[in-house]
Amino acid sequence: MDLAQLIADEIRADGPMPFRRFMELALYHPRLGYYVSQRDPFGTSGDFYTNAQLQPVFGRLLAQQVDLWRQELGCPEEFSVLEVGPGRGEIETQVRECIPEIDWTGVDYGDPWPGRPLTGVVLCNEFFDALPVDSVERTGDGWRLRGVELRGNGFCWQTLGPVRADDAWPDVQPGRRIESCDSQVAALRRICETLRRGWILVIDYGYARTEIERAGRFPDGSLMGYSRHRADPDVLLEPGRRDITAHVNFSALEDAAREAGLEVTPVTSQQSYLLGLGEPDSFARALEAESERAATLLRMQLKTLIFGLGETFRVLVLRKR
Ligand SMILES: C[S@@+](CC[C@H](N)C(=O)[O-])C[C@H]1O[C@@H](n2cnc3c(N)ncnc32)[C@H](O)[C@@H]1O
Repeated sequence: MDLAQLIADEIRADGPMPFRRFMELALYHPRLGYYVSQRDPFGTSGDFYTNAQLQPVFGRLLAQQVDLWRQELGCPEEFSVLEVGPGRGEIETQVRECIPEIDWTGVDYGDPWPGRPLTGVVLCNEFFDALPVDSVERTGDGWRLRGVELRGNGFCWQTLGPVRADDAWPDVQPGRRIESCDSQVAALRRICETLRRGWILVIDYGYARTEIERAGRFPDGSLMGYSRHRADPDVLLEPGRRDITAHVNFSALEDAAREAGLEVTPVTSQQSYLLGLGEPDSFARALEAESERAATLLRMQLKTLIFGLGETFRVLVLRKR
């Protein structure tokens, strides 16, 4: 059965569906969800590339970061990396080329969560933006949940009942929409609990609360669909066949980390973060190659990573002592 049909049946039976439920089914329905079905969403024939897939040099730089942190902890025997939402596992492969002996566990959707706390690094590259969220609208009469209703053969938005605002939400004028960030905050809290000692590295599309409140970024919310390498703001199209993302509320993640007792390095752009990482040896290690041709390719990748994608992505570094 088609996922759109299945969602339509649920709406017919239960009434308009909160958007979070729609996103959850669209991405993670056990058989037909976008990340679960057999079709490979990543790569040339898929719908998008992540940082890691575009740029093997990205993995080399992350390997330098992991190695630096390992040394800072005094190279303890139990040092390990937990990657949350690894997808096809490109980052692990790239890092292993530089640090073959690294103890690395990847936990993707539906995998069992590690049974005991770890010392080392938790890495989340484009994980938080794939978590289902509520879409909410500020009205003259408080906040309202947004849902999905049937229209003809497709889906349309419908305003649902009132919801209580969360302190973490940006405070915006009536008429504006945002996404809730409770699933992002809950995922971070769980990660904080799992880390005994070490660092959490979050790399993702995102914003600071003030960008929404004062600079008016994303007046209609940040939801975006991706299909065949094209972005489309109509996230209700073809559920299960397109990726859906929501930008990450980095201010909410920072607050949650502080509450959990972690040290927070203020959020920075991927550009500044990677420039800082490569600075000590002018990127020499990340650009090592066997031929001039391979070296040129790596230099081009580095340029895209820093100047092409570097402003879009944000980086949050958290430390537990
Ligand atoms: C945009 S992909 C990023 C993949 C990879 N990190 C990369 O950079 O190439 C998001 C990944 O997060 C995974 N994911 C979503 N929810 C998850 C959850 N609750 N626990 C673990 N992984 C999850 C998805 O299955 C998917 O593989």
